[in-house]
Amino acid sequence: KLKIAVIGGGSSYTPELIEGFIKKATEVPVSEIYLVDVEQGKEKLEIVGNLARRMVEKAGLDIKINLTLERKEAIDGADFVITQFRVGGIDARIRDEKIPLKYNVIGQETTGPGGFAKALRTIPVILEICKDIEELSPNAWLINFTNPSGIITETALKHSKVKALGLCNVPVNMISHVAKACGVEMERIYIQFAGLNHLVWGLRVYLDGEDITEKLMEQLTSEENMTMKNIPALEWDKDLIKSLGMLPCPYHRYYYMMDKMLEEEKRQSASEGTRGEVVKKVEQELFELYKNPELAEKPPQLERRGGALYSYAACNLISSIVNNKKDIQVVNVKNNGTILDLPENVVIETNCVIDKDGAHPLSIGRVPARIRGLMQVVKAYEELTIEAGVNGDYNAALQALTIHPLVPSTGIAKKILDNILAENRDYLPQF
Ligand code: NAD
Ligand code: G6P
Ligand code: MN
Repeated sequence: KLKIAVIGGGSSYTPELIEGFIKKATEVPVSEIYLVDVEQGKEKLEIVGNLARRMVEKAGLDIKINLTLERKEAIDGADFVITQFRVGGIDARIRDEKIPLKYNVIGQETTGPGGFAKALRTIPVILEICKDIEELSPNAWLINFTNPSGIITETALKHSKVKALGLCNVPVNMISHVAKACGVEMERIYIQFAGLNHLVWGLRVYLDGEDITEKLMEQLTSEENMTMKNIPALEWDKDLIKSLGMLPCPYHRYYYMMDKMLEEEKRQSASEGTRGEVVKKVEQELFELYKNPELAEKPPQLERRGGALYSYAACNLISSIVNNKKDIQVVNVKNNGTILDLPENVVIETNCVIDKDGAHPLSIGRVPARIRGLMQVVKAYEELTIEAGVNGDYNAALQALTIHPLVPSTGIAKKILDNILAENRDYLPQF
């Protein structure tokens, strides 16, 4: 029987995770779940925790839900540590989105300077969590969702001995979008993914083993927008899709259609607010619902968040490790020569065989020039961000932002960086 620790347990997403464990109860026998949060999240933790207890009870399962602010107590002897925390909370996210916009740069919580700021705040905490795991449960798997997921997972792998795997709901959502476009069940679709978290491409797409990539490209530009709730659903540029000849992920809009996305972001932030401001309201509504003692399931309103299907990814991954399934899932994993165009020690997002020893990536080799450059420069940005985040290295930080494709010059990079450092002082012990 398994012990699961969830760091950031007060998240409004937690009911979806609990639902996932309930659905998989026969495959994944869980005896206790520890939901961990910090002082500021205490009230949320209490509300979500009580809902989780009602859900488990309604399902007739014997899973003990423990709520705690003591991380070590939760990690001690855990089999899986799931990380889904947000250092600084939603207000820090809103600042991340607003600072770049002041300089006419995309303001996004994971992509560009916003994601960079989130990484700097998160890196010291993930390193502490890894220390706790090394000390208290060295055999545990760290399943990281905390964004920027690729960067945070790479930090854990480079700077600890912890067995870390990174997850994102984008790949399963892409599979689901394609399945819908084809009018078939998700199981019949296979996509060969390669790239980085929030910068992943579907190189080839198959339906029942038949390559449908070209056919799909035509559909992509017409009826299907294929986006996530948190990303403006701007229609794909038809010539882009034609010339690319593969499936972009929703986040690619920020790179390939930066001008239009920036206009749209500015328009939205002036009307309904940034995505973080919208989420703040959605969350308040969700927690009101969660408080209802009659509620004992995940409410449909949670679908307004961008994280849909995240527990599907988490629970499938855990099940395949526990049951040594040897099936294929998309995971953020150490490159190790899978993509020859990237260093060996960096994290990539790609298809992996999952068994009791973890995730084994399927070889990709070299990628086409049209995606290689963007992937390499964003990876270099990520490597520099980790250097900056671990060592408090200003020069690495400035280079990270300077080379990022969404930042036009080192002058703007410096202004944004100094702004980020000033506004996040309380969360950046390394600087
Ligand atoms: P949230 O603001 O609700 O944060 C979750 C909880 O983390 C909060 O209750 C907060 O108090 C807590 N927290 C903050 N610092 C902590 C710490 N040091 N230790 C323990 N808990 C701490 O955020 P959310 O919207 O639920 O998202 C949570 C995280 O998951 C974010 O990092 C988000 O980017 C990420 N996320 C990732 C994916 C993915 O695809 N990888 C999907 C959804 C969410
Ligand atoms: C997508 C991404 C996640 C991200 C989420 C944001 O699902 O894959 O990594 O955290 O969107 O959604 P939100 O509702 O918080 O804007
Ligand atoms: Mn994601």
